[in-house]
Amino acid sequence: MPVTLYGARILKDLSNQELRVLNMVETLLKKGEYAPVEKIVSYSGYTEKEVSFIISKLNKNKMVRRWTGQFVGYTLTYAGFDALALNSLYNKNIVAGVGRAKGVGKESDIYYAIDFEENEIMLKINRTGRASFQQVKKRRDLLKGKFHYSVFSLAELSAKREFEILTKLQDSKLPIPKVLGHNRHIFAMNIIEGQELINVQNLKKPLKTLEKIIKYAKVLYNEYHIVHADLTEYNILYDENKDSIAIIDFPQAIGTDHPDADIILERDFAHLFDYFRKKWFISPEVEDVVEYIIGKK
Ligand SMILES: Nc1ncnc2c1ncn2[C@@H]1O[C@H](COP(=O)(O)OP(=O)(O)OP(=O)(O)O)[C@@H](O)[C@H]1O
Ligand SMILES: [Mg+2]
Repeated sequence: MPVTLYGARILKDLSNQELRVLNMVETLLKKGEYAPVEKIVSYSGYTEKEVSFIISKLNKNKMVRRWTGQFVGYTLTYAGFDALALNSLYNKNIVAGVGRAKGVGKESDIYYAIDFEENEIMLKINRTGRASFQQVKKRRDLLKGKFHYSVFSLAELSAKREFEILTKLQDSKLPIPKVLGHNRHIFAMNIIEGQELINVQNLKKPLKTLEKIIKYAKVLYNEYHIVHADLTEYNILYDENKDSIAIIDFPQAIGTDHPDADIILERDFAHLFDYFRKKWFISPEVEDVVEYIIGKK
């Protein structure tokens, strides 16, 4: 598990020129499979020699990857994409520095960071598509720039979606992360104390906790018209000191107008009650709870 984020570490050594070229590679990748050196030269206003020097350094730092075919071009790496997003969050005065990893998972990496007042904050770096990208990478013939960029677009879309949902919920009294800013596939939020429910050995009042979760789901459903859609013991954090919970991880949340919203709500609670039954020996009737949340009862 990486202790520091490579893109963040390298960011310190990147000059403005390098960042500008990196940005240009990204822009060109949206239009074609590779960013041709020739185009970087004509768009940047730098000479061929300058571009060649800048891009070799980016290549050496693994921010871009060189491709030679009918022309010489470059694609962006995850580290390059991370660096662009972090640079933007830095310029927006949101993230002053990146620290150690809290967790590196399948769909996202969570990192500690600091803001400009030296408060510790949390970054969620979306990696949607990483697993499928790595699979395809093995079959090099399929590795086309467009596909490559679409992986970044997916990650960006997912992060944006989660950020927007959380933004909508900021004024609610719901215990969710406070969002601080967003760029590309990364968003910043406050740190929530506690640990995932799945790891909790001493849940003081299991039934009370479950009642709170149900109450929050009802508020989400009726006041914000949202179903979480992944409300599991992994996405509920429990703070033993305060005997309180928080709900996280919203990218897959759906609107209550979704044709399957109520079925998905039921699925969420069927799963969650399974956990509460096995671990804490309590299990209310799923149908009753779903009816209660929807508001028929
Ligand atoms: N704001 C936060 N404060 C404290 N811990 C957090 C915060 N956000 C996320 N985490 C921790 O990081 C873990 C992963 O975050 P999250 O559930 O949002 O992403 P995920 O998409 O499930 O990630 P993965 O695909 O890696 O499972 C959480 O289970 C939690 O332990
Ligand atoms: Mg999660």
